[in-house]
Amino acid sequence: MGKSQFNPVRGKIKPRTLNGWAMALFVASSLTLLAAQSSAQDTSSAQDSGISRAMADQAAPITPSPSVTHQMYLDMKLGKLNIHGDNVVVEALVLQRDIPITYNYIATLMRTPNAFGDGPACVVCHGSNDLSKSYRGMDLSSCEGILRGATESPARQIIHPGEPGRSLLTKMIRNNRMPLGVPFFAPVDSDSILAIKDWINAGAANDDSFTTKILPLFSDPEAFGSENACVECHKSFRDPPSFNEVNLTSHEAIIKGAFSKTRNKRGLPGLPIVVLFDAEASPLYQRLTMNRMPPGIDPGAPADHPNTLLLMRWIEQGAWCK
Ligand code: HEC
Ligand code: HEC
Repeated sequence: MGKSQFNPVRGKIKPRTLNGWAMALFVASSLTLLAAQSSAQDTSSAQDSGISRAMADQAAPITPSPSVTHQMYLDMKLGKLNIHGDNVVVEALVLQRDIPITYNYIATLMRTPNAFGDGPACVVCHGSNDLSKSYRGMDLSSCEGILRGATESPARQIIHPGEPGRSLLTKMIRNNRMPLGVPFFAPVDSDSILAIKDWINAGAANDDSFTTKILPLFSDPEAFGSENACVECHKSFRDPPSFNEVNLTSHEAIIKGAFSKTRNKRGLPGLPIVVLFDAEASPLYQRLTMNRMPPGIDPGAPADHPNTLLLMRWIEQGAWCK
């Protein structure tokens, strides 16, 4: 089963595997090498790496500013570039080199089926601000529409330019609704969900009402409309078996948040899943109410699809419409 490598609320990308880290370090160190080498650029290296002498001769001799293609050839020559699979290509050739992502590409993604994992194109269901034709009155078919966000009550922005992690758009492409496997159309205002919402909005106290009414919900297989109780997947601070080290077995554990064990080792607190007095901002409540898009996508589909990373980079770069 795919596990989220990106935490929407905290806006953090956790490399999927050790290889991911190795790759990142690899590319980072090769860029450092490049910086050192670019002033000493010579035609023989260009030739060895497949650039014709004619092209190399055209390079300005005194202050060479290697093209991104040339940098790539240098990396290949140094054996620093090993490209297998879409993810690595996007990481090594686009993200690491800070290639600008244009709105033009985002427009294509919104119109393309399976762009972020199996499912219909976003614009099929979010094609205008007409509430009678488009879910949430949201128009993902234009840049202005994306910036405007959902126009149906509660109207809200779906992106925060510069902050992919805070953007509802990326959260909803990456994060599964809980419990994993709950049908897409299960109501989001069931008694159980509203009880948790009210509890958080009242300050998430550790009182009798929490002990008798809230805590038992997490171990009740029927509380949230799936066959799995939350604690089947979130019962300890260890991942595995407890996804994201979320532990829903006590008040103290819930307040510790996600990844507390791993983060405590580095002297950091866990990542909150409950924001006191603010259910809407609490991952615990968000995960009960927000469906992963497109509807019906396999919850095991990787959260870090290359196109998702490119969408996030576009937002990070400022979500420019040009
Ligand atoms: C088959 C129809 C359908 C498709 C395709 C679809 N959505 Fe949705 N989307 C919905 C429905 C229905 C809702 C509202 C219900 C919900 O939030 O679960 C929604 C809600 C959303 C929201 C939340 C807006 C808000 O303020 O609540 C976002 C963001 C979103 N979709 C993005 C996308 C993206 C991005 C894609 C393409 C990857 C996509 N959707 C594809 C039907 C669809
Ligand atoms: C079948 C296993 C499964 C069940 C059941 C399940 N979860 Fe999860 N949960 C996951 C996985 C996998 C992730 C991480 C992947 C992701 O982010 O979508 C996750 C992530 C979460 C997160 C995000 C933590 C963070 O990093 O911010 C919360 C909160 C959460 N679950 C709450 C719940 C609640 C509440 C229930 C019960 C209603 C529940 N889960 C039931 C598997 C499960």
